[in-house]
Amino acid sequence: MTVSSHYRVRKAVIPAAGFGTRMFPATKAVKKELFPIIDRDGRAKPIILAIVEEALSAGIEEVGIVVQKGDRAFFEDFFKTPPSPQLFQKLSVQNQDYSKYLQNVGQKVTILTQDVQEGFGHAVFCAREWTNREPFLLLLGDHIYLSDTANSCARQLLDIYSQVQHSVIGLRVTQAEVIHHYGCAAGVWREQDAILSVTQVYEKPDIEYARQHLSVEGMGDDLFLSMFGMYVLNPQIFDYLAEHISANFRERGEFQLTSCLDKLREFEGMAGYVVQGRCFDTGLPEVYRQTLIDFAISGGAIG
Ligand code: G1P
Repeated sequence: MTVSSHYRVRKAVIPAAGFGTRMFPATKAVKKELFPIIDRDGRAKPIILAIVEEALSAGIEEVGIVVQKGDRAFFEDFFKTPPSPQLFQKLSVQNQDYSKYLQNVGQKVTILTQDVQEGFGHAVFCAREWTNREPFLLLLGDHIYLSDTANSCARQLLDIYSQVQHSVIGLRVTQAEVIHHYGCAAGVWREQDAILSVTQVYEKPDIEYARQHLSVEGMGDDLFLSMFGMYVLNPQIFDYLAEHISANFRERGEFQLTSCLDKLREFEGMAGYVVQGRCFDTGLPEVYRQTLIDFAISGGAIG
């Protein structure tokens, strides 16, 4: 393998196996990854499709979606089965074309399962065999990303990965008051306000901890760097996840990703990149509402 091919990322993993408790009772009827959004072409699509498109438009070739065992058939059907001839005939010409495009997208999707819901880190771990020790792009199953530049958010992150040549986590500037909702990173700027050499990754700090340990030089008062919900990870992450799982090391009852990210950082090095764009956590009612408005106006990454 040449150096350049080594830093080419071909696969993306999207965990979509949670319960969606914060969107109850809607999630009793529909998985949150399947909630609709409207793109700039006025097309209604499930959130998961917009995320897959974000990955494919960035040059990713194969996408693995981790779902609950009981949801497997549904996701398979959405991505793999064409509409019935009766439905297809009734579609507009544009939607017939889109349906064909969707079949093509579906060929690049593999549905993976998490048999028991043991947390975010565990869901990522379920993609271990499928990634086959390649680096991979990790996108959250309930996040929608909007770039401020001509390059999609995922493309930006992949470019930084090939530049710095180790794992990269997407970051965004976040106010102290809400920092306890997110994973955070601290570090030293390699490129001011853009690329960080990460010295610590910490999940959902309280404000005192953040002020004491997670301040980054040159940032405004009480501003911190939190996860953008997008990561490019080297396969060693699975070794740290495997360690936690075999030792039954749980945080808040589950196997978390963030503490393993911190190990990956410690032993392999890690960069943080302040993504030029926005991400929307559609797993929260208020943000979902806003996403419906903003995504339609600004458009999404269309493959
Ligand atoms: C997860 C991650 C957290 C991240 C957040 C939003 O938390 O563990 O580090 O900041 O997604 O991207 P969750 O919202 O699943 O509790």
